[in-house]
Amino acid sequence: MNGWKRRGVLAAGLTVTGAAITGCGTDPADPAGEAVGPADPAVAAAETARRAPSARVVEVELVARESTVDLGGTKVRTWSYGGTVPGAEIRVKAGDVLKVRLVNELPAETTVHWHGLALRNDMDGVPHLNQDAVPPGGEFHYEFTVPDAGTHWFHPHVGAQLDRGLYAPLIVEDPANPGDHDVEAVLVLDDWLDDIDGRDPDTQLATLKEGMDMAGHEGMTMFGSDLLGGDAGDVDHPLFVINGRTTADPFTVNAKPGQQVLLRLINAGADTAFRFAVAGHEFTVVATDGYPVEPVTTDALLIGMGERYDVVLTAGKGAFPIVAVAEGKEKRAAAILRTAPGRADVTAGLPELIGRPTTVDELTTPASHRLAEREPDVTHEVLLGGDMASYRWTINGAQHPDVPPLTVHEGQRARLVVKNATTMFHPMHLHGHTFQIAGKAGPLRKDTLLVLPGQEFALDVDAVNPGQWMIHCHNLYHGEAGMMATFSYLR
Ligand code: C2O
Ligand code: CU
Repeated sequence: MNGWKRRGVLAAGLTVTGAAITGCGTDPADPAGEAVGPADPAVAAAETARRAPSARVVEVELVARESTVDLGGTKVRTWSYGGTVPGAEIRVKAGDVLKVRLVNELPAETTVHWHGLALRNDMDGVPHLNQDAVPPGGEFHYEFTVPDAGTHWFHPHVGAQLDRGLYAPLIVEDPANPGDHDVEAVLVLDDWLDDIDGRDPDTQLATLKEGMDMAGHEGMTMFGSDLLGGDAGDVDHPLFVINGRTTADPFTVNAKPGQQVLLRLINAGADTAFRFAVAGHEFTVVATDGYPVEPVTTDALLIGMGERYDVVLTAGKGAFPIVAVAEGKEKRAAAILRTAPGRADVTAGLPELIGRPTTVDELTTPASHRLAEREPDVTHEVLLGGDMASYRWTINGAQHPDVPPLTVHEGQRARLVVKNATTMFHPMHLHGHTFQIAGKAGPLRKDTLLVLPGQEFALDVDAVNPGQWMIHCHNLYHGEAGMMATFSYLR
């Protein structure tokens, strides 16, 4: 997700990008507005305010490299962190300082974005906006306070790299509230195409931009889904995996009958929303995107790209398929919940997957975690446009990097009115903040939200984390085809 080229240079040598910057960094449209860049003292001050002097420091080395990975019977040559898909989980406690030494052994430049964290802006990992990309053979030292508990993850923010194996969970435990589950498992859902049938994410993106489907036909592969308001995706991924395993050799969650099992679900897919269910089990949704929700018990859940959900279930006795159906695509990823010997047929149909799954419409953030009542100080329209034929995906009529920044001043309440004028769904993600959905579907706090065709959401954001932040569609191919903008603090 690079390609960001703008005028203006910071002391650190970074190209500043927030407001359309000229000369000394003043936005001509707002004479009072100078972009708060990653090297701005306000960014360091926000970090200082977050960091306890006694904070524990957790150090991790992350090597991005090419290797052969076994996806459960299917071997692929791909890019990953440390040679596994997903990469090794990073687990910290809220308030810890995380130090990560990224070593880039890839044949391309890369960065790491810490998806879901309200961290310091100069560590957020967007090339040219927050840092310079790390060249092949180079390294970068990330260091930031991890402010909030929750299920998060990390991935590159360069090109189509996310649709290779470069992703891993970042689990932040709450020292004040360890939870009362007996067993915990992290399940990372993904759609896979790298090194299966001659495609890689870069060739796939080029094909989409040429207006061809994978077979060279004009127009795109079409997948229908009523649940997603029409079109379910643009890319025909040949495989779907949970924790890097296909249905041929699935990942297993082991527990004892009657135990409380916490599943942390992360959709790392590029182009796929999943319908999730556990055979023979209801589960209770307890959190999304790092924030608790009023518990909702259901037998199926819709999970968009970039979204996370924490669910809890009471394990039955036996071996049970855990299924993530690629919505509208008639393929699936699977894992197994096992509390006793026996066979789990992960390819069988599941009654849980037939009805309408739970969606964000049914979720509410408890009063303790909502934003304070307040009128917005600034309102921006975020109009989502584009179509598959042109493969130009736009915000407010322009493609990144030409989208005018959505500006805000520190301390303001911003309202982003996201309207989807396309015939596809878009999982919209804001970096560095958790917004609150105002109005009927809420109040609900999230950082990634499925916006279906024709839908409009008012997203309220408290501007308490100064810097330059991306807001974009987490369909990787839409983001790369322009559906990105900057949420830009001005001073
Ligand atoms: Cu997963 Cu720009 O984000
Ligand atoms: Cu999109």
